[in-house]
Amino acid sequence: MGNAHRSWQDWARFFVCRSHRPLPALEQDRDYSTLPDSLARSLAIFQLGESGGGTIIRQALHNKLQGTNEYYAAALALFVEEEHRHANILAMCVRLLGGTLIRSNWTARLFVFARRLIGLRLKVVVLLAAEVVGLCYYHLLAIHLPPSRLRSQLLEIVEDERSHLYFHCDFLRSQTSTRWRKKVFVVVWRTVMFCAAVVVAVDHRKALRDLNIGLSRVLTRWRSYSGLAEALVVSESDSSRVRATVSSLDGMESCI
Ligand SMILES: [Fe+2]
Ligand SMILES: [Fe+2]
Repeated sequence: MGNAHRSWQDWARFFVCRSHRPLPALEQDRDYSTLPDSLARSLAIFQLGESGGGTIIRQALHNKLQGTNEYYAAALALFVEEEHRHANILAMCVRLLGGTLIRSNWTARLFVFARRLIGLRLKVVVLLAAEVVGLCYYHLLAIHLPPSRLRSQLLEIVEDERSHLYFHCDFLRSQTSTRWRKKVFVVVWRTVMFCAAVVVAVDHRKALRDLNIGLSRVLTRWRSYSGLAEALVVSESDSSRVRATVSSLDGMESCI
C-alpha cells in the first residue's frame, strides 16, 4: 500500500490480509560463520525493539482524537502484531547466526521511555522514527549479505516497514491539519529523528564497520526517508512531488 490517505478501514483490511503469513523457514544447515558476530548482536537489539507495543493499542482504543476511529485502533493492533512477527523472524535470524537474544539494551530502553512518556500523537512520531531507522538499516544490512533466506527475510521486513511508514504518516497527517500544527510537527519530528539516528548509529557502529557500511551512506538514507515522511505528513496535498520522491527512493532501493 504505497499511497497515503487511505481510510482506517482500508488499513485494517490491509493488515488483516498480511496477518496470515506463516513464519518463514530459514536455512538451518547453511554456514554463516564468515559473517561478523556484531551482525547477530545488532539484529538482537532490533529484535528487542520489535517486541513491545501493548500500551499504544490501549491508548488508541480509548483516545478521543479527531480523525481516528475504531478501525484505526484495529489497524494499530494489527500493526503491532506485524512487528511481533518481525521480532520472531529476527529471533530466528539471531539464533541462525549463532547469537544470543537479549532482554535489555540502552537504545531499546530509550525508545520505550520516549513512547511511555507521551501521548498517542508523540508516540506515533517516535514509532515513525523507528520505522525510518529500521527500514534503512535492515535494507543496508540485507544488501551486504550473500544471497540467502536470511537476506530475503530482511528485505521482506523492509517492505513491511515501508508500509508502516505510510500508515503512521496517514495518522500524523490527520492530526496536523492547521499550519501551526504542521510547524510543531516538523520541529518535533526533526528532533526525534535526529536523536533516533544518533543513538542507533552509535549503538550499531560495530556491525556497520564490520560489514563495510559507511556512516555517511546510512545518514544519507535516513535523511532521505525522514524527508519523505515529513513531506507525506505536511505537504498541502497528495502532491505529485511526494509521489515522485517515493518512486525515486523505491527505485534507489531496488538498484543499490
Ligand atoms: Fe518491524
Ligand atoms: Fe514497523
